[in-house]
Amino acid sequence: MDIIRNKSLVNLNTFGMEVYAERFVTIHSEKELLTALEVYSKERINILGGGSNILLTKNLEGLTLKNEIQNIQITFEKEEEVFVAVGGGVPWHQFVLWAIEHNYGGIENLSLIPGSVGAAPIQNIGAYGVELKDVFEKLEAIDLKTKEHLVFEKKDCEFGYRDSIFKRALKGRFLITKVHFKLTKKHQINIGYGAIQQTLSEWEILNPTIQDVSKAVIHIRKSKLPDPAEIGNSGSFFKNPEIGKEHFEKLKKQFPPIVSYPLPNGQIKVPAGWLIEQAGWKGKRRGDAGCHEKQALVLVNYGAAKGSEIYTLAMDILESVKAKFGIDLTPEVNIW
Ligand code: EPU
Repeated sequence: MDIIRNKSLVNLNTFGMEVYAERFVTIHSEKELLTALEVYSKERINILGGGSNILLTKNLEGLTLKNEIQNIQITFEKEEEVFVAVGGGVPWHQFVLWAIEHNYGGIENLSLIPGSVGAAPIQNIGAYGVELKDVFEKLEAIDLKTKEHLVFEKKDCEFGYRDSIFKRALKGRFLITKVHFKLTKKHQINIGYGAIQQTLSEWEILNPTIQDVSKAVIHIRKSKLPDPAEIGNSGSFFKNPEIGKEHFEKLKKQFPPIVSYPLPNGQIKVPAGWLIEQAGWKGKRRGDAGCHEKQALVLVNYGAAKGSEIYTLAMDILESVKAKFGIDLTPEVNIW
């Protein structure tokens, strides 16, 4: 176990923030994790996954653990399904590519999402009509306080829209070592999302395979979302808010082109990207902190922005959306 003091995290967070971890250890196995927890039992612990859903605004005190637990393993197969256990440190898209290559379905719509497999359940990652919870079986995690190895079944995780118990009551309490998925051998293609349909029809693909869907999703994401390797960002900065019917009807009168998605619970989901664009932020830039020109929901670091500058921009956007539409936006990104 190698401990690095004052480790720069600039290459370990997709916003590209230059902050330092007081002590830093890379974790390759559960055994290594238990040793680190033994040695540093009194330290404050920070867990870093892919660093793709986090805005670092200051140096990290205590011990920062980078989850690098690898391995993808088939645990069980049925005629139409396959059960797979994946190390928490495996990059999410690497797992998607493995599944596509082996013709295992269920996560093709989640292609090219940055981040690690261990972080994916924390915010129940989702895109193009599919969420992690749809393919999730269970996860294994170590309690950082008691060092116990626990298994969380789907119901224990309390998954919601970009949400789980690991973002609320159990925040910061566990390191997720392994996630178990149920993938399909007999596929159920999900191309209900307009942009996927449109891309496939442009490509003249009538009966898409999971490989086609994955390619279409990659194409759409690349055309809309900035590549963190080129421009620092953490994907959608805010969640799409849900509002009541009365509030929505009032807004519809005032802003007839408002985009909306009715939900089964009677609430209306309104895309935060639309609200932010209407509030005049799309493409705006303050120094190196900006609101992306193609997707207003994504805040970007053009080079040397500080975490605090992105944070201030986010708070100003939040206030102006509140003033114009009476809607409270909530950050999706974790702010440290
Ligand atoms: N819109 C605008 N202006 C913008 C951006 C969006 O008017 O600048 C409108 C679009 O025209 C469209 C609607 O908002 O009518 C929705 O836009 P889009 O399809 O791009 O999706 P989103 O709601 O902005 C969500 C997820 C994304 C996910 C896409 C596709 C959240 C917070 N974000 O974005 O997830 O890729 O749907 O499923 O739910 C992420 O979580 O980091 C992420 C990128």
